[in-house]
Amino acid sequence: MCGIVGSISTKTNIIPILLDGLKTLEYRGYDSAGLSYIKDGNLTINKVKGRVKDLEKNIKKDAFSNIGIAHTRWATHGKVNEINAHPHHVGKITIVHNGIIENFNKLKHKLEDKGYKFKSESDTEIATGLLDYYYNKYQSIDKAIQKFIKKVDGSYAICLILDNEDAIYVIKKDSPLIIGKGKDENYIASDVPAILKYTKNYYILEDYEYGKVTNEKITIYDKDGNIIKKELKEYQGSTRTSDKGIYEHYMLKEIMEQNTTIRKTIDPYISSINDLLKLPDLTKYERIDIIACGTAMYAGLAAKYLFEEYTNTKCEVFLASEYRYQNNFLNDKVLSIFISQSGETADTLAALKKVKENKCDSLGIVNVKESSIARNIDKVLYTEAGTEIAVASTKAYTAQVALLSTLILAHAYRKQIFKEEKIIKILEEFKNIDQILKPILENTDLYKKIADEIYEKNDIFYIGRGLDYALAMEGALKLKEISYIHSEAYAAGELKHGTISLITQGTPVFASATNKKINSKTISNLKEVISRGAKCYLITDEDFKDNSIQLIKIKKVSMFLKPILTVIPYQLIAYYTAKLKGCDIDKPRNLAKSVTVE
Ligand code: F6R
Repeated sequence: MCGIVGSISTKTNIIPILLDGLKTLEYRGYDSAGLSYIKDGNLTINKVKGRVKDLEKNIKKDAFSNIGIAHTRWATHGKVNEINAHPHHVGKITIVHNGIIENFNKLKHKLEDKGYKFKSESDTEIATGLLDYYYNKYQSIDKAIQKFIKKVDGSYAICLILDNEDAIYVIKKDSPLIIGKGKDENYIASDVPAILKYTKNYYILEDYEYGKVTNEKITIYDKDGNIIKKELKEYQGSTRTSDKGIYEHYMLKEIMEQNTTIRKTIDPYISSINDLLKLPDLTKYERIDIIACGTAMYAGLAAKYLFEEYTNTKCEVFLASEYRYQNNFLNDKVLSIFISQSGETADTLAALKKVKENKCDSLGIVNVKESSIARNIDKVLYTEAGTEIAVASTKAYTAQVALLSTLILAHAYRKQIFKEEKIIKILEEFKNIDQILKPILENTDLYKKIADEIYEKNDIFYIGRGLDYALAMEGALKLKEISYIHSEAYAAGELKHGTISLITQGTPVFASATNKKINSKTISNLKEVISRGAKCYLITDEDFKDNSIQLIKIKKVSMFLKPILTVIPYQLIAYYTAKLKGCDIDKPRNLAKSVTVE
């Protein structure tokens, strides 16, 4: 989603730093970009609809400045165009903003009554106007910011420059923002990677805090203007930027990495029962709630099946966007598990705040270290998927499922439902995941053949029962998000209650049948759609022969590994289908990697 970069320096030209930072954030998804800087008291603003490289062409070759702010915009209020792009400038104030100003309409009318005129449809221009209004009124930017925090509803990470001051101001609520500390120069960013080339040291702003950044000093205040002492963090991960290596797309690279990322994630827990028991003890809880969005939520649905089937523990799964506005029936016997790759998803973070307000226990399954969810949750278990660049999540999903599976195994052991020998056998399979996945990852010809059969279709269905239904949802999401083919998942038994009317000659239907207790039922449902002309594809570990169904065979493994083995063919079929359609696989239209607005 939107990205922010800012920098102020004693001597260095900050324009290349800003452009470089924006390029690092590009994979998060955006539709326009802009940059503003001050030189000898003169403000310049460059904005484009399109890519950072277009913005770069727009900036004068000899442009030089020691202070500037920049932005990539993912449109929320107003069309994708140059006028709505950030920075916005009103009076003496220029800002870039991530988030949504929810009461912008009311504020707009008030400001218009005071004589302000706005050019764009953007809520950010209203925020700029409001800051300018208070700045003029109080003749103090501190006072203006404090008043702004009181008056504005919604989410914001704001980076602000004044026409007449060598400082950058930052304000934060419900959208991430960090301040990087350098030598004779400082940086601001919505995400740490944007400034890692220049510094590993940074401060994290919390909600309702604001800061003043000059080339030599960083001061952070609470909402009333009191100075706050903050811990200077040091980034611990690798500063090497990820590249595609031998692969044409990040998505393919990330799919192919799964043999190592899964193992890395669960490695601390699979050597012995003692190691497994390093995972948190869940026995005091009567109910597990899992809260997440998109693919992370589908990982939660797979976990629900395993929790309920193998540990006899009630597990509910919620979309974070719904959870935050419903009755959650929380008590101290409920553990809320939050799953997130980015650790910044606005709805998931808001749902976590609700659980914390209710003083109930929370556990995070998070990929990005030190992200907002990781910092705010009671306890965090990190997935070790590494940086996921492609917008469509693949290796993060399998790492989440693997980590949840080990957590559930530990729970089954503690509840004495699984005996030691059984656990050890499953752990052995996890240790062998690399070898188990090899044939699945290498089955390229079959995936390409299937992609060739489906890429011109308009509607595709995914079905399954139990765990396979949860996997069907992830399969359908992967295909639709990167190939733009309409695809839907259904519980296999549900088709004939309405949706089967959409099955016509040649409609592709995918299914997985990986649970011998109910496989024959799913296969009967496939037969029903075949009778109506569907072309069927079945992922299964069964020795099953049927000329009317294209089989995708996977190895027989424990149920705890099945989500991983089943989803990978779905990921690769989606990838090759999108490739045949010539889609922008790593950056699908309209999508953003980190969804930091509601
Ligand atoms: C789909 C996808 C999204 C994310 C969702 C949650 O491929 O990537 O559905 O899973 O936006 O994001 P995180 O996991 O960052 O909270």
